[in-house]
Amino acid sequence: MATIALNNNNKIPWIGFGTGTALFKKDANEATTLAIKSGFIHLDGAQMYQNEDSLGKAISQFPRESLFVTTKLNTLKPGETVKESLLGSLERLGLDYVDLWLIHRPESFPGKLKDVWKGFEEVYQEGLTKNIGVSNFDVKHLKELIDGASVMPQINQVGPFNPASIRFHAGLYHQLKPLLEFQKQYGIRVESYGGLTPIRNATEEPLNGALRTISESLSKRYGAPVNDGQVLLKWLQAKDVIIITTSFKEFRLKEYLQAFNIPALTEEEIKAIDDVSAPTAGL
Ligand SMILES: NC(=O)c1ccc[n+]([C@@H]2O[C@H](COP(=O)([O-])OP(=O)(O)OC[C@H]3O[C@@H](n4cnc5c(N)ncnc54)[C@H](OP(=O)(O)O)[C@@H]3O)[C@@H](O)[C@H]2O)c1
Repeated sequence: MATIALNNNNKIPWIGFGTGTALFKKDANEATTLAIKSGFIHLDGAQMYQNEDSLGKAISQFPRESLFVTTKLNTLKPGETVKESLLGSLERLGLDYVDLWLIHRPESFPGKLKDVWKGFEEVYQEGLTKNIGVSNFDVKHLKELIDGASVMPQINQVGPFNPASIRFHAGLYHQLKPLLEFQKQYGIRVESYGGLTPIRNATEEPLNGALRTISESLSKRYGAPVNDGQVLLKWLQAKDVIIITTSFKEFRLKEYLQAFNIPALTEEEIKAIDDVSAPTAGL
């Protein structure tokens, strides 16, 4: 599978299968197994989803080295260290290390992001995780964490559901630009979740209009049908963003992976989607 380089020279697969949202607090074994059998090798878990054990069951059926596994720190109990929390996740997942360990939400650690990040740097140096990063961080959270850090985050996973308005999907691109520009200075990659929100949200019909026009011309260039969701995946790819998505349906999982082979969007098509998300477009 194609990969994207991180600021520590490690690589991350361009698309990942998520075990949150529809699988939140549910057994993730069957859906994750289907995803891996369909071709996904990048799996996105979290302590908050309360299904790391079933994600681990799915993982155990495949060679560890062939997979890229993420989990996320939810909160710390009084006196608990970052390392103890990660060891708990590793035990539930049945793994010796994860590929990516993220702080799930900055709000969980008010005024303590620097301390928590020190713990992340320690487990990174010890090899319990290959990469470290954050999720749902805005510029102010990143500034707080980066100040005095010895390891830069590799990733900020962002999406449309965060109350602090940290969003990444096509309808909200312009709101996100300051964050993207800040991250670029430090080589912090953007990983998106909820990237398909515009086609699942009827209030964003203007974007749907743009997507339909693009999917028609892209289908002609590809020589096979391209749907609106795949156009959004191509737009995220054009923005150099790592994608986390999900589905229980085999055809959909294959459709996501197939998006990689669809021709890239033209500059005009990218701009058409960007412009729908501009403040003047009323979104
Ligand atoms: N860090 C965080 O705070 C955070 C928060 C939320 C989520 N996440 C992660 O991101 C993962 C994915 O989140 P998400 O569910 O929001 O992903 P998403 O990629 O925005 O949406 C996936 C959904 O889109 C639907 N879809 C795909 N193509 C479609 C099409 N052509 N037409 C209509 N519907 C289509 C699928 O429906 P079907 O099911 O019908 O195929 C699927 O349920 C989660 O599982 C989790 O791992 C992280």
